[in-house]
Amino acid sequence: MYVCLCNGFTDRDVKSAIASGADAVPNVYECLGASPQCAKCSIQIRELIQEEKSQKAITFSSE
Ligand code: FES
Repeated sequence: MYVCLCNGFTDRDVKSAIASGADAVPNVYECLGASPQCAKCSIQIRELIQEEKSQKAITFSSE
């Protein structure tokens, strides 16, 4: 699913950026070689970062 229409990246791209160490919205743009245009996607990117952090916390706590 497209997250950012201005830059044409998807939720998979965002998750891959997060897996590469991007832990904040500006880092995700940077990691994907993009820059915010309208920034409407920033809310969704932030949610994906939170989701991935929660997943990691669940993974670590069950290990
Ligand atoms: S939708 Fe991402 S910058 Fe516009």
